[in-house]
Amino acid sequence: MRATAPTASGWPELVDLHSHVLPGVDDGARDLDQALRMLRLAEADGVRTIAATPHASEAAPQQIHAGVAQLNRLAADAGLRLRVVPGSEVRLAADLAERAGAGHLVTLAGTRYLLLELPLWGGWPPFLLDAVYHCQVAGLWPILAHAERYRPVQRDPGLILDLIDRGVLVQLNGDSLFGRNGREARWAAEELLRCHAAHLIASDAHDADARPPRIRAALERAAALAGTDYARWMAHAAAGVLQGQPIQIPKAAVPRRGSRLGWLRWR
Ligand SMILES: [Fe+2]
Repeated sequence: MRATAPTASGWPELVDLHSHVLPGVDDGARDLDQALRMLRLAEADGVRTIAATPHASEAAPQQIHAGVAQLNRLAADAGLRLRVVPGSEVRLAADLAERAGAGHLVTLAGTRYLLLELPLWGGWPPFLLDAVYHCQVAGLWPILAHAERYRPVQRDPGLILDLIDRGVLVQLNGDSLFGRNGREARWAAEELLRCHAAHLIASDAHDADARPPRIRAALERAAALAGTDYARWMAHAAAGVLQGQPIQIPKAAVPRRGSRLGWLRWR
């Protein structure tokens, strides 16, 4: 993985590989004004590249590419340095490999990396490992989006290890580390970090107020939980993903189990 230049703060230039900054396509930015406010916040946070990853079910590939070009023009006109790259957040389905083969999926910045999401509620999808395998055979490198938000992971973060063993990168939402997505999500995110069983932190920003595109504070929190070297590795790994580089996944420890009632016991 090629290192990006460290900034004065010791962090590399940051990338945010999960955001809903594309206006008017899903439940993210409402309009261009809000999208521009989000881009300003991201740049002020130290982000130099942000992936626009709308829900694939709500945005056609051509719409994503055109929207990204428009946002880049808007950002340049506003004097911003940061760059927007295309992506999408794809719901796990049995036919992912065929859709990828037909060119119907938008990967992160045109790389092999695909941001994959599961249902937030309910059980762990029984065809998950098969779908991941078929994606990989089709040449895609899946990233599990906001791993800490899934109820099965909140009960047993160790579920993630099977995916890691198969080469899947694990992304956390930065705001989960500050309780934005509930205490179970916070506990799961912390436990995954303590065990080095998460690899990427992104904002999953939806607007400029309640869910803004900030990741620096989350990386600093990750440094406190997982160690500074590991948190810096995470920031480099995110940059490597958007450059299409293969990421060497570190060995993870086995996370503890959690539960709604057990959350307080584990503190
Ligand atoms: Fe998202």
